Amino acid sequence: MKIGYVQFKPKFGDKEYNVSKMIDMASALDAQVIVFPELANTGYVFRSKGEVAALAESSDGPSIRKMQEFSKKKQALITFGFAERDGDSFYNSAAVLTPEGQVRVYRKVHLFNEEKLYFQRGEKFFTFTWRGFVFGVMICFDWIFPEAMRTLALMGAQVVLHPANLVLPYCQDAMITRCIENRVFEITANRIGTERGLKFTGASQITAPGGVILYRGTRTKEEAVAVEIDPELALQKSINNFNDLFKDRLPIAYKLS
Ligand code: ACM
Repeated sequence: MKIGYVQFKPKFGDKEYNVSKMIDMASALDAQVIVFPELANTGYVFRSKGEVAALAESSDGPSIRKMQEFSKKKQALITFGFAERDGDSFYNSAAVLTPEGQVRVYRKVHLFNEEKLYFQRGEKFFTFTWRGFVFGVMICFDWIFPEAMRTLALMGAQVVLHPANLVLPYCQDAMITRCIENRVFEITANRIGTERGLKFTGASQITAPGGVILYRGTRTKEEAVAVEIDPELALQKSINNFNDLFKDRLPIAYKLS
C-alpha cells in the first residue's frame, strides 16, 4: 500500500484556493492513502470566533464534498483538517473520506494554545477499517500526549493519520519514539510558511514501526510524497522471544494510588 502526504502553505480564509491546491498537489501523487495538514482548507491563525464562524463547515460542507469527489476519482483514502461547525459549536477536526463514500470526523482532543479560545475539544479517538487495514486519526498537538497514539494502537490502528500545523520543532523526533513504543506506521502532514506572524515548521514525516523514518520532508517547500509500506508489519508487537510490547503491559501497575 502506498501512503503519502501533501505539505503546502494554505492561504488564510481562501477555502477555494486551498482546496484546489490540495487536489492539484495530490492528483500527481501515486498513493492510496493521502494526508493533508490540520485546518488545511481555512488556514490556522484565527483571531476571533467570528472568523471561525465565517469559515467553519458542517461535515457535509462544500470542502468535504469536493474532497469526497476527489477521493472517489483518485480511489484514495483522504484525511484533511477543517474547521467544523456543529450547531453553535466549533471543532478543530479532521475529515476521513473513503472512495466508497464513508465520512468520519475526528475532533481534536488536545487543543493547542489559542485554539482553546475558538474551538471546543473533542472527546474521543476512534479507529476504522479500510481495505482490510486499521487506521486511526489524531491532530497535531495530540502528539505530545503519549496516550493518544497508545490508545489508537491499543484499538488496533496499524497506520495513524496525523494532520498537523506544527510550530514546535519536537514532534518529528517524538514520532520516532511513538512508533518504537507502539510499533505502528504514522503520517504527519505538516504545513509550511508564516501566517499572521506564526511560523510553521514543515518537515512532514512518514515513520514506520521501530521508529524508522521512511521519509522526512523539507522545512520550507511545498511537496507531495508517498512511500510503499506493508501495514501487516504493525501487527507484530514482539521485539524478542520474551517481550511483546502489548502483552507485557500491566495496567494494574499503572493505577494511580
Ligand atoms: C498545533 O496543535 N497546531 C500546534
